[in-house]
Amino acid sequence: MSHILLVTSSPRESDSLSTRFATEIADGIQARSGGPLTVRDLAANPPPHITPAYIQGRITSPEDRTPEQGKAVKVAQEFVDELKVADVIVLGSGMINFGPPSQLKAWFDHVTWPGVTFSYGDAGPIGLLTGKKVYLVTATGGVFSEGAWAPFDFQTNYLLHLLGFIGLTDVEVVRVEGTVFGPDAAKAAIANTETAVKALLAKAA
Ligand SMILES: Cc1cc2nc3c(=O)[nH]c(=O)nc-3n(C[C@H](O)[C@H](O)[C@H](O)COP(=O)(O)O)c2cc1C
Repeated sequence: MSHILLVTSSPRESDSLSTRFATEIADGIQARSGGPLTVRDLAANPPPHITPAYIQGRITSPEDRTPEQGKAVKVAQEFVDELKVADVIVLGSGMINFGPPSQLKAWFDHVTWPGVTFSYGDAGPIGLLTGKKVYLVTATGGVFSEGAWAPFDFQTNYLLHLLGFIGLTDVEVVRVEGTVFGPDAAKAAIANTETAVKALLAKAA
């Protein structure tokens, strides 16, 4: 039985393709494993931008935190607790101006926490959230998996780097891309991702 965490972040509500396919993956795995599913919708409930209270609070012991610091750190603690308990994490991100939605950036600013999700060893940083499987669904209007725009994929590369930084190195990327080139191209792009998700779920059984 796997505990699944679904994190979605697109502000496009029911139009969102990253949310659609991330949800399909999480539901599919949940149906097979029978484990609990936690849903964290970062667009519906955006994390705050990090503040001085958060930065000071997380280096202050809990009993010495001001109420404001305690409140700020609690937000991060909740996100980290959800990550720690999960065996499988499904993350949806729809490209906004070549990067992930700022809601997802704000979430990473909370969960990338020295001493909690990563530490510094003699050979450099060590990710602490190990032994988990991640499915990362990225949606983009353009094509970034190959070709001229590939160097400008500041979404997938950034997310893979940050996931790895906190120890989440077993990541399978599912792309839905090239939806901006007219209805036929969008239909074909979505059909490709549907096929990929079906294959992934058959394998994840
Ligand atoms: C405000 C905004 C900015 C966008 N910026 C980009 C971009 O820089 N590059 C790109 O290829 N697509 C861009 N798109 C298209 C989205 O990435 C595309 O619609 C994708 O499907 C969004 O993910 P979602 O379907 O999960 O919401 C943008 C869309 C919006 C609404």
